[in-house]
Amino acid sequence: MDKFIINGGIPLKGSVKVSGAKNSALALMPAVLLNSGENIIENVPEVNDIFTMMKLLKQLGVEAEFNNHKLILDSSNITSQVAPYEHVKKMRASVYVLGPLLAKYGSAKVSMPGGCAWGPRPIDLHLKAMEKMGASIELEGGYIIAKSKKLSGARINFDISSVGATGNALMAAVLAKGESIITNAAAEPEITQLAQFLISMGAKIEGIGSNILEIEGVDELDNASVINIPDRIEAGTIMIAAAMTKGKIELENANSKHLNLVIQKLEDSGAKVLLNNQIISIDASNLEPLNVDVTTAIYPGFPTDMQAQWTAYMSIVEGSSTITDTIYLDRFKHIPELIRLGADIEILRNSAIVKGVKTLKGATVMSTDLRASASLVLAGLVAKGTTEVLRIYHIDRGYQRIEEKLKKLGADIKRVKTEEF
Ligand code: UD1
Repeated sequence: MDKFIINGGIPLKGSVKVSGAKNSALALMPAVLLNSGENIIENVPEVNDIFTMMKLLKQLGVEAEFNNHKLILDSSNITSQVAPYEHVKKMRASVYVLGPLLAKYGSAKVSMPGGCAWGPRPIDLHLKAMEKMGASIELEGGYIIAKSKKLSGARINFDISSVGATGNALMAAVLAKGESIITNAAAEPEITQLAQFLISMGAKIEGIGSNILEIEGVDELDNASVINIPDRIEAGTIMIAAAMTKGKIELENANSKHLNLVIQKLEDSGAKVLLNNQIISIDASNLEPLNVDVTTAIYPGFPTDMQAQWTAYMSIVEGSSTITDTIYLDRFKHIPELIRLGADIEILRNSAIVKGVKTLKGATVMSTDLRASASLVLAGLVAKGTTEVLRIYHIDRGYQRIEEKLKKLGADIKRVKTEEF
């Protein structure tokens, strides 16, 4: 087990390259199950969730090679339609194989994902979409057993906007017979990227980037190649690190359009942000930060995946800030750990009420989930003295060697092996 040891107080300076988006790659990878051939996905981050998806796809018969952020996936010889508990329990996104397997092979047996560190995360919308397209769904022994002869196009309206359910329904609909219309579809960049990948395979999709997707099913899809988008959450996290440490940095290979509201909130807090093609510069060297409230929302709103990091930021900004999560109402596992570092935060229903303190003080804290652990690293970068962040396997799920990027920017952070749990 690894932990981070961080000595806080150094303003970040310099430039780093943003990795490819984990969440987008996790949707692109299972899409190869829809064709029978060699597919190439470039700009894929080397993070544990990607390795988990690779293992799952290999288990289904996909041949996978991953070198230098380039993933070659050959789906010519699919031998199984079973996604076992061992993979799904590690990563909910494994449920993305449901739609493609069902659409192409007429059956899928996928383990139920179960809960998550910050509460239940249902998949009812995924299942309803499959049923709407004519699949029979049974739950047996912790598994979803889905069967269908040939899926039929359908009108699918999601009561809640869901990235995963939209991705799954889209992947099923592209091979269904006839037309499907998905309303209240997620419009996150990861879904747009998935739709474009499917189109390059020969799928017929309209309304990309909007909340209404119209799909005309086709009989088969070709193999395809795609360059994955940059990771907007990694970029946003490092920008907040720059603001918190009063640094001055440049992010290369970023897409500022995907970060509009995060950039606006950073500017509202007083940071200077400059955009130049794929480079985002942030100058916080003379920053006297102001409190800024945020409320998470579906895209293009403030991402729930940035909520914990923003809370860490506001914990050192004088005055009171309210951070509300409307996507996951109890995603606050980071708060007790931030309090251990000296933050003054109260949870009121689905809001964190943060009263800024002058300084955080180093302590040993524990990661509980991916974004929570990012918020603890951010806090460690400004805390006085030494902060130890335990259980960093959580951060390794979604950030590619975050400590190397931070070190490149001058931070005093190191990864060490530990017996502590
Ligand atoms: C994806 C992201 C995750 C991010 C989340 C919200 C990936 C791999 N993960 O997760 O990092 O935090 O979007 O932006 O892309 N819901 C239901 N029933 C369902 C599905 C979802 O009620 O069947 C609810 C959820 O509980 C949540 C909301 O819908 O309140 C949005 O969740 P969803 O967009 O589905 O999240 P994921 O796709 O799992």
